[in-house]
Amino acid sequence: MDATDCFSLSTRERTDFVNSPHVIAMVGLPARGKTYISKKLSRYLNWIGIKTRVFNLGEYRRHATTAYKSHDFFRADNMAAMKIRTQCAVEALNDVIRWLENGGEVAVFDATNSTLDRRKMIYEVIVEKMGYKLFFVESICDDPKIIEQNIKEVKISSPDYANMNEDSVLTDFLKRIEHYQERYQPLDEERENKIAFMKIYNTGQKVVVHKHEGHVEARIVYYLMNIHITPRTIYLTRHGESEQNLMYRIGGDSNLSSRGALYAKALSSYIKEQKIEGLRVWTSWLKRAIQTVADIPAPQERWKALNEIDAGICEEMTYEEIREKFPEDFSARDQNKFAYRYPRGESYEDLVARLEPVIMELERQGNVLVVSHQAVIRCLLAYFLDKSAETQIVADELPYLRVPLHTVIKLTPVAYGCHVEHIKLPIEAVDTHRPKPMVSPFHLYAFS
Ligand code: ATP
Ligand code: F6P
Repeated sequence: MDATDCFSLSTRERTDFVNSPHVIAMVGLPARGKTYISKKLSRYLNWIGIKTRVFNLGEYRRHATTAYKSHDFFRADNMAAMKIRTQCAVEALNDVIRWLENGGEVAVFDATNSTLDRRKMIYEVIVEKMGYKLFFVESICDDPKIIEQNIKEVKISSPDYANMNEDSVLTDFLKRIEHYQERYQPLDEERENKIAFMKIYNTGQKVVVHKHEGHVEARIVYYLMNIHITPRTIYLTRHGESEQNLMYRIGGDSNLSSRGALYAKALSSYIKEQKIEGLRVWTSWLKRAIQTVADIPAPQERWKALNEIDAGICEEMTYEEIREKFPEDFSARDQNKFAYRYPRGESYEDLVARLEPVIMELERQGNVLVVSHQAVIRCLLAYFLDKSAETQIVADELPYLRVPLHTVIKLTPVAYGCHVEHIKLPIEAVDTHRPKPMVSPFHLYAFS
């Protein structure tokens, strides 16, 4: 069966469209971080508003057969298994196409794609037949320590190895890699001179980019050049309670309340206790954030991009006052809080755009404490939590994420995601969270 049998409309001319769909196809031996890169890239692209989905070939294979008993399945001379593997690749590409035809923007095809033949097949289907953009991302790693660590970190818990001990998994997986190695043909500038690709060596020590074009590919290259896998922790917190918070007024640039000042002390003690190596502290330019880190002995940087959402004509009002004075705006915000832009101010969507450089720099850094504001922390948290597979869900959930005052959110990267802990320091504070209103056919109202 051909991967495009069910699609007849598409043409080669499509590549000329600015918004033509993209396929990012991973390349590399097993345990080279392809799934890690795919998931992380997808999380980033969804967060910046590009609808992205990962298609993992391992999942298709497990769905197609339970025949995996050992590395023998991956031998190049295992013809029966090879047939299943090829069928799965075709099926996954069909799903990629179906999804892109239904509004998806970037599909990440997460497979080894380690032979010229396989990549030729992808090129023919994706570029020549469908007219989509295609970009290969190859991960190359020859450091045995990293590979062993990768196997231990993520392969032990793979459904392929249910109830197997660590040593047996390691032995089997290394043999699986050897089978791939026999046929592996890394991307080659000369033999594959038509195609656009990037190669990432040893988790980013060196990067080679070949023929990338257009805005989406440029962003992908830049993002993948910035990520690293060195263990670290990111701490997010709002400033201590402010004088404006006490009056339930939004925005402004007030000082900390007396309880807010206590939080600043408590935060400093907490951070000192953690003995965090090479910690850097980032705050907004607003007084309440700067006052919150006054006693923290670590290098500090101020980011205007970390300032709270600009509420424009509603700055320093209470929600009640906004409802009375600007009822139409108030209700418009309740209907689509993510997209709503305060007159002469900002929307959550604007905030995400403003925060992209902060995320990029956070990706490059080690341990960082970010002290900012409710709406800003919601946006940063949405990126790290990857609660969303689809952009619409981000848009619906993001502006209502709970980010209480006087609470440190500790984010530690694990496997493909992030472990999240909320550490509430024992100092009372007001609750500034306005929950998502219940929608009735006639009214919108908040249950607070
Ligand atoms: P498989 O082909 O079996 O699906 P894979 O290449 O998809 O393997 P992953 O499952 O993504 O490998 O491996 C995850 C591990 O890879 C994580 O522990 C992560 O720290 C590590 N990793 C992430 N990026 C890279 C990289 N560029 N090179 C090597 N390892 C990486
Ligand atoms: O109330 C504190 C605050 O940080 C305001 O300055 C800001 O306008 C608001 O939270 C953002 O939260 P929401 O988007 O839920 O109104």
